[in-house]
Amino acid sequence: MRFKEIEKAAQLLREGELVVIPTETVYGLAANAFDPSAIQKIYDLKKRPKGNPLIIHIGKLEDLFKLVREPSKMQLALAETFWPGPLTLVFNRSSIVPDIVTAGQETVAIRMPNNAKTLALLDQLDFPLVAPSANPFTYISPTHPDHLKLSYGEHCPFILDDGECEVGLESTIISETKEGFHCLRQGGIPIKDIERKLGEVIVTQKPSAIVTPGMHKKHYSPHTKVKIINDLSEASNFKDINYKLITFGTKNKLDHQIELAPNGDLRQAGKRLYATFYELDKSDLDLILILRPPNDGLGLTLNDRLTRASQQS
Ligand code: TXA
Ligand code: MG
Repeated sequence: MRFKEIEKAAQLLREGELVVIPTETVYGLAANAFDPSAIQKIYDLKKRPKGNPLIIHIGKLEDLFKLVREPSKMQLALAETFWPGPLTLVFNRSSIVPDIVTAGQETVAIRMPNNAKTLALLDQLDFPLVAPSANPFTYISPTHPDHLKLSYGEHCPFILDDGECEVGLESTIISETKEGFHCLRQGGIPIKDIERKLGEVIVTQKPSAIVTPGMHKKHYSPHTKVKIINDLSEASNFKDINYKLITFGTKNKLDHQIELAPNGDLRQAGKRLYATFYELDKSDLDLILILRPPNDGLGLTLNDRLTRASQQS
């Protein structure tokens, strides 16, 4: 590992600057979680509305305890099982967490990313990092440093470059209430895997009782119009326009088709989906057509993102 770039990133963060950090899910726009004026720069650069709380990234489990109050046994069991990894847990916050992190809520979202460079960076710092996905608000999360340059150009903060993200989809967010565990965002860890750990506890996907700030209907959207089709044969209706068709594990090989899950491997698709959107946004298309993957495992996360990508503003 190149020590110098990690040292540089650490120094910038100590000085209250932003740094783009790699994670296994997507690149994050990081700041010192205890420095409200550094965090304000994230909102400004992303054009992110206030009232949209941030995830705190920690490097070791013991760092959790000063940030939260009364974590439950189950929450700790989930953290021990899935961290470092694409799982974010929502806890009761302690008073050390600044209001700007939680958007004034009594809860705080925390995860430990599974990326060696970012873990080495966190190890050098005596504060945790807040890091939203590094995209401009409502655009696609970046999964490669090239995506950052496209969005921010010369205003892009220093990037701790670790190439392509392993998972390519954001973390799964789980919160706990008296009624049980709730999934606030489907993500890189399929709900099935979490349910296996939680045993009898039911994971509700859309708990009406819970406010999920920041989960806008149109989110993760490319600039090019996206349309979901239900059958491959519908693609022929679009033969007169300039389109690409994204599929997930079909046997066919049509013109204009981009197969994201060869042999049905949805992890491959997760890794490549956002990069494909960034690529297609550069290619002056009229339309991106999508035939959905099966709605199971990581397919649930992919379908959630595809639905959002296809929402018109
Ligand atoms: O994979 C990820 O989670 C990436 C990488 C960089 O770690 N981060 C990420 O952050 O996706 P962001 O800010 O783009 O999305 C965070 C989501 C938002 O929808 C926000 O509303 C939700 O987490 N969130 C944050 N704090 C919360 C809280 N206390 N209660 C409920 N939801 C919360
Ligand atoms: Mg985001």
